[in-house]
Amino acid sequence: MIAKFTAIAAAVLIASPVLAQTGDAAKGKAVFARCMACHTVDPGVNRLGPSLAGVIGRTSGSVPGFAYSPAMKNAKIRWDAKSLDAFLTKPAAQVPGSKMIFAGLPNPADRANLIAYLASASKK
Ligand code: HEC
Repeated sequence: MIAKFTAIAAAVLIASPVLAQTGDAAKGKAVFARCMACHTVDPGVNRLGPSLAGVIGRTSGSVPGFAYSPAMKNAKIRWDAKSLDAFLTKPAAQVPGSKMIFAGLPNPADRANLIAYLASASKK
């Protein structure tokens, strides 16, 4: 019984994608409340920060009409689950000189849930 369970757990681990944790988009929406002072998920609606509609799969610093810092413009990061996870852990460390003033999300579950939310909201 235990051996069978271990085999299944191992198979699940091997099959899981880049992120060890799969996020919950509904919980991620609540985490996004911390971003909403500066960001929307509505296409073309920039606030203090650029719109995050369609952020997954795009290159950093590429929203038309948004005045990025040179640091973000030059970073040329492809935003995917892995790079967003790294950036959101500590934005200033990933993109030094960025004008995003946000300390970061230290909790991996918060990041995974938020990224799931951004992925689902981006499909609008
Ligand atoms: C105090 C305002 C503020 C808060 C809060 C904030 N951001 Fe930002 N964000 C910005 C600004 C300003 C930029 C542009 C940075 C630059 O040009 O250096 C940015 C850039 C970004 C980018 C890069 C976008 C692109 O087009 O390349 C991502 C991704 C991002 N923020 C995600 C988030 C998430 C997710 C949260 C919440 C956990 C968050 N931000 C919280 C202001 C903020």
